[in-house]
Amino acid sequence: PASTAEHHRGDLAVGGVPLTEVAERFGTPVYVMDEAEVRERCRTYRDAFPEAEVLYAAKAFLCRAMVHWMAEEGLGLDVCSAGELELAVTTGFPAERIVLHGNAKSPRDLETALRLGVGRIVIDSPSEIARLAAAVGPGGHQKVMVRVVPGISAGGHEKIRTGTADQKFGLSIADGYAQHAIGRILDQPQLELTGLHCHLGSQITSVKPYLLAVRRMVGLMARLHEQHGLVLPELNLGGGHGVAYRPGEQALDLTALARKVRAELSEACAAAGLPVPRLIIEPGRAIAGPSGIALYHVLSVKRTGDHTFVAVDGGMSDNPRPALYGVRYALRLIGRQSTAPTAPVTVVGRHCEAGDVIAADVQLPDDVHPGDLLAVPVAGAYHVSMASGYNMVGRPPVVAVRDGHARLLVRRESLDDIRSRDVGL
Ligand code: LLP
Repeated sequence: PASTAEHHRGDLAVGGVPLTEVAERFGTPVYVMDEAEVRERCRTYRDAFPEAEVLYAAKAFLCRAMVHWMAEEGLGLDVCSAGELELAVTTGFPAERIVLHGNAKSPRDLETALRLGVGRIVIDSPSEIARLAAAVGPGGHQKVMVRVVPGISAGGHEKIRTGTADQKFGLSIADGYAQHAIGRILDQPQLELTGLHCHLGSQITSVKPYLLAVRRMVGLMARLHEQHGLVLPELNLGGGHGVAYRPGEQALDLTALARKVRAELSEACAAAGLPVPRLIIEPGRAIAGPSGIALYHVLSVKRTGDHTFVAVDGGMSDNPRPALYGVRYALRLIGRQSTAPTAPVTVVGRHCEAGDVIAADVQLPDDVHPGDLLAVPVAGAYHVSMASGYNMVGRPPVVAVRDGHARLLVRRESLDDIRSRDVGL
């Protein structure tokens, strides 16, 4: 949001709307999506990768407006459940531009995908091959890809690394599982294998692992060509492009990524005597993350022996990332200008456990007090989409800002919403 943020009377404005106004009108906690920033990030991808198919990874954050923006910006979608898929298709997103992922797709996921006509289904396990072939039925037809594990360790945290064989996703090249599964897919006449997929992990800030992935994937393509005479037209390198969460952090350089991946791919394919496949990428965080801001009101300030705890009206139910991955955010006080010196504080949530921390050891003005408004930048990815019902506080609303206007995209979960699901006694 740095590109669109302006200061008004000490207020931070995004999309031309002062965040104080958003907080007042919609209450807190609230998530704000800067529509221009989302669209700008989509365009950055289209410009950097004009030859590629860019799929937005819906798991980062999805709502109807996001679906609509992706359609307008010419992106495809990566979904991993019937839920994400139905939301997209019922919003009018063309199903053939959607790819279905998942290490454990449910019967409903597969049935929905086939019924709605998704472009491709990415096979993730050996048992899925027969299951999918049966669901498609004799005489039917479905394009598929295979999720391959190239044996590359990359990503911001152990829990989001998916390029090595010691995790649940995909079929490993090193132990021959990928090759074996591909052989079986080729035996199914109703499944058309269009290419290979890999996703190394998330919050990757270096280009290098992607280049290694290109080499390994093309290596496998070359072996498949020798063995089966197969020429695969597509190569999906997944997402994982890292963003800067705090000042001084480095985001993955997308221009460099595009240039180097392109060069590596041409070179590797030329050496293998293969045509260059159509590239597919699946960024989620890099589109949604920096486009979103979370707003909280301070509810209490407590000074103990060593710590100052600033407690806000949200927490791990809307942002579990610090608790899960130990990530760090840069918070700021908005809505008033403080001349007080800054001091280290721990910003905590309202939930019933000590690990409910939003930001440990951040600098805030010493006079921070209940009623103050705090903004957490880079909150657009994997917050709302990972929000939980913990402590029945209700999941927060999402508001879009654009050209000086704010509009509600997703309303706050009310106590009635929560109660209405509780149908037994
Ligand atoms: N493609 C596949 C197959 C994926 O599994 C993912 C993310 C993506 C693309 C998009 O990755 P991205 O560009 O957003 O890094 N909850 C974690 C991140 C989990 C990522 C899961 N898969 C977090 O909050 O950091």
